[in-house]
Amino acid sequence: MTPSDPFYVGFAISTWQNSGDGKTRSNWGEWCKTRTFCFLPTIAGGAVCGESSDFWNRYKEDIDRAVNLGSNCFRFSLEWHRIEPEQGQIDRQAVQHYIEIIDYLIEKKLEPFVTLHHFVHPLWFEKLGGFTKEENIAYFVEFSRQAFRFFGDRVRFWTTFNEPGVASFAGFVHGSFPPGCIARLWRAGHNMLNMLRAHTQAYAAIRAEPRGGTAIIGLVHNWFKFEPQRAWYTPFYVKWLSAFLNNLWGNERVATYLKSGKYEYAPLGPWLWPLTFEEPTAPGCDYFGLNYYSKGVMDWKLQPSYSTGEIMTDMPYALWPAGLGIALDDIGAIMGKDFPIYITETGAADNGDKVREQCVESYMAAAEEALRKEKPLKGVMWWTLIDNFEWQMGWGMRFGIFEWNPDGTQARILKKSGAALKGWFKRLRDVAVPAVLANDDTTIKEMQPQLAFAH
Ligand code: BGC
Repeated sequence: MTPSDPFYVGFAISTWQNSGDGKTRSNWGEWCKTRTFCFLPTIAGGAVCGESSDFWNRYKEDIDRAVNLGSNCFRFSLEWHRIEPEQGQIDRQAVQHYIEIIDYLIEKKLEPFVTLHHFVHPLWFEKLGGFTKEENIAYFVEFSRQAFRFFGDRVRFWTTFNEPGVASFAGFVHGSFPPGCIARLWRAGHNMLNMLRAHTQAYAAIRAEPRGGTAIIGLVHNWFKFEPQRAWYTPFYVKWLSAFLNNLWGNERVATYLKSGKYEYAPLGPWLWPLTFEEPTAPGCDYFGLNYYSKGVMDWKLQPSYSTGEIMTDMPYALWPAGLGIALDDIGAIMGKDFPIYITETGAADNGDKVREQCVESYMAAAEEALRKEKPLKGVMWWTLIDNFEWQMGWGMRFGIFEWNPDGTQARILKKSGAALKGWFKRLRDVAVPAVLANDDTTIKEMQPQLAFAH
């Protein structure tokens, strides 16, 4: 990151959600085909991702769509299973294909933000035990190093992991992500720790590469809090469960680890088999990637709910714009008040585009307020460009600014909320420019040639 980097606005996608496994096999591809112990499908409606919206082949038209909405960056994932489909075997065609995607982004003046792990990894890695085993960290580190060698001349912004907390919680407590374990509290804790340690080692491996000094490497976390529904009476078990879930989810744990290298996990209290770890030195981390959606409100029946005046999305949470500023402050309190933060995802699931516009208006206004208060917010990426495969929820959750249906037509239709988002992208960039100047004596005129890929 340099002071002359523009404020980044654009879209975030994961390649798997928009393209599936292709000819290769991943943990998620297999998970879609798995049945639970009562023979129920693992994915809502028994859906299987397949080629989805086929970003893999249609990337040019989709990148053009992002450009037309005023983006100057694009976040997407390098799928490990496509690049290394079998252990130790690199698929050169897949590497070349990713180079073409990246080159097209650069040609269109979009700064690529690549994620090395967005929930999906090769099936061979899953069969080795994935991140539950410390000895498997080395495979991810090697993949990261290779990826940097392939793409490091073109890509500056790297994310090691998308949401290690969600992957661990959903995979080992909730059972909704592979490997589908339920209430395996300590496995979840080990899995999360190993992912964080893999971040630290991948960071060091990339930095040690000849061009590694130029890379900007961060980790993405979904900052999400649980709380009881506001009511005249809150039963003790709702308070207890909220606190328990907050502990498992681990907002502070992730930030503390990134800041200091200390990891403390004690799901049933500090006296019962706490899991602790400390890195010899603080991990490398150049920015915090914030995925911000909402908070989890529970009613007395322990059902997802909302408090008075809040508007539900199709996901089990309501719009909560005020939480965005709170999340930025919470992160700043641990990472340091000037530590760079990118909102690497924000958005809402909304079939019919009924509440998305309100989400755009209120969440982007919260981002603007953060900029005006000179919070170290460096960019905002919208989740997501095209409706796609929403993990265990299948096709039902519509996060796209473009409508897309699994009907084989591959048609994309811009939703009406797209216009509002385009307006906000411009506005945020305009608001952010003075902030960039305030941090740097350089004048805009002097800065222009350095602006990485800004239009
Ligand atoms: C994930 C995305 C997901 C989105 C909406 C984030 O936690 O990174 O892959 O689609 O939330 O649920």
